[in-house]
Amino acid sequence: MYNSKITGLGYYVPENIVTNDDLSKVMDTNDAWIKERTGIQERRHVVKGDGDTTTTMGVKAAKVAIERAGIDKDDIDFIVFATLSPDYYFPGPGVLVQRDLGIKTIGALDIRNQCSGFIYGISVADQYIKSGMYKNILVIGSELHSHGLDMTTRGRSVSVIFGDGAGAAILSREEDTSKGILSTHLHSEGQHAEELALIAPGMGKRWVTDIIEDNDKDDESYLPHMNGQFVFKNAVVRFSEVIMEGLQANNLDVSAIDMLVPHQANLRISQFIQKKFKLSDEQVYNNIMKYGNTTAASIPIALTEAWEQGKIKEGNLVVLAAFGSGFTWGSAIIKW
Ligand code: UT7
Repeated sequence: MYNSKITGLGYYVPENIVTNDDLSKVMDTNDAWIKERTGIQERRHVVKGDGDTTTTMGVKAAKVAIERAGIDKDDIDFIVFATLSPDYYFPGPGVLVQRDLGIKTIGALDIRNQCSGFIYGISVADQYIKSGMYKNILVIGSELHSHGLDMTTRGRSVSVIFGDGAGAAILSREEDTSKGILSTHLHSEGQHAEELALIAPGMGKRWVTDIIEDNDKDDESYLPHMNGQFVFKNAVVRFSEVIMEGLQANNLDVSAIDMLVPHQANLRISQFIQKKFKLSDEQVYNNIMKYGNTTAASIPIALTEAWEQGKIKEGNLVVLAAFGSGFTWGSAIIKW
């Protein structure tokens, strides 16, 4: 048995900054509401036509992670790509990364677990490395939300929250099993699938020929829907549970946490968890203020920034936790 260690991290966000004031020019919202309810001050949006897609952003983040891991792209044995905003309906972006990085015909797997996608991704990668099947795995979380949001007042409760960006990690074989990813814990509760969902286009809805013919601009099933308060209430419970589950599985308690990197869903959710676990500001990394909620990309972007700023050091206990659409949630306990 081996462990897997994160040996390289990278992120990419589009240059275009969209402030709360910018949004208030196109919909009935305001800086004070967005800041108070979410903590978000600005987010990044891909400019239409500038060439960035979920895949290209993922590739840019991956290149940084590969270089920092000190490996060659041809040392990568497997690709895992988490997103809810793929370039195509199919194939998923994993194979596009294999093509765009110009690497040999390794396997590529797409993960569809929304905000928990990156944790599901590293959990899958971790099992392949633990079993000895692969040595180096590229895990990407990337989202291009802005092209799919309703930027009118109708969509304001969702569209002010989400931003574009990508993060990537290289997981590599670690012989010392006291180091690296100690455990991952994954959950789902499909009973609440429609509480945070994008229903169409979906083959479950109707025949695809109807979808094409229909082309109804008032059909809201093509827009993301979120029952915000219900999601919020479930999030704070599940975040707490799954962090505790991870700590207990490793005979650790909350005092062992050096750095918690929560999925950046809402600053108020992170602050609730911080308060509940009595963690200091230095023990929780948040960057939702700058990027909004980037779903599968939020943890790898935040983890990369925390590491770049020297906030994560060798030997630290790092906890990742996420909750989101599905509902799905998960945690990872890492000895850096
Ligand atoms: O990452 C995936 C997981 N996602 C989450 O965990 C998100 C969890 N939920 C949330 O973060 C919060 O529920 C939101 C930020 C989405 C909303 O905050 P809230 O405090 O729950 O607000 P609300 O939905 O209860 O809306 C309060 C009021 C409403 O007006 P009335 O009915 O009180 O007159 C909304 O219409 O705020 C109004 N509102 C807005 N006002 C200005 C909703 N969106 C906006 C907006 N600007 N953008």
